[in-house]
Amino acid sequence: MMLPRPSPKTLRRVQRGLPLLVAAGLLALATTWRPAIAPISPPDRSAFPIADVERGTVLAKLGDCAVCHTAQGGTPLAGGRALATPFGTLYSNNITPDPAMGIGRWSLAAFTRAMQIAGGNRDRRT
Ligand code: HEC
Repeated sequence: MMLPRPSPKTLRRVQRGLPLLVAAGLLALATTWRPAIAPISPPDRSAFPIADVERGTVLAKLGDCAVCHTAQGGTPLAGGRALATPFGTLYSNNITPDPAMGIGRWSLAAFTRAMQIAGGNRDRRT
C-alpha cells in the first residue's frame, strides 16, 4: 500500500518542529541522566564507629525503611514488597548490606544520591 505523499506545507512543519523535538529530548536526558557510581569494597563492619551504627539504626527506624523494603513474611530489608500505584506496581529493592543482592557495595555518595533523588540507583540512570 502506498501512503499519500505529504504536502510541502506538512513537510515544512515537520522540518520546523524537528529541532525543537531534539532539543526537548536532549533537555530531558540532561536533567535526568546520572552516571553510574563505582562500587566499593565494603569496609569491615567493625570499621564503623558504634555511635554511627546506633544513629543509623535510629534513622532506619524513624524512616520506617523496613515497612516497604520487606516482603510479607520475608527477610527484613531484603525487598520484594509490591507497592501498587496508579502507574503500575513498584517492587522495593534489597537494601541489606549483602554485597551481591543488597547495597553492601554502595559508597556513601551512591547511597546519598539514592536518598536525595527518587529511585536514584547507583548503577542505573534514573
Ligand atoms: C513508602 C515505601 C518506602 C519506604 C518507607 C522506603 N523506601 Fe526505599 N524504596 C522504595 C521503593 C518502591 C524503591 C524502588 C524504587 C525504584 O525501583 O525506582 C526504593 C528504593 C530504595 C533504594 C534504591 C535501592 C536500589 O537498589 O536501587 C534505597 C537505597 C532505598 N530505597 C533506601 C531506603 C531507606 C534507607 C529507607 C528508610 C530511611 C527507605 N528506603 C524507605 C520504597 C520505600
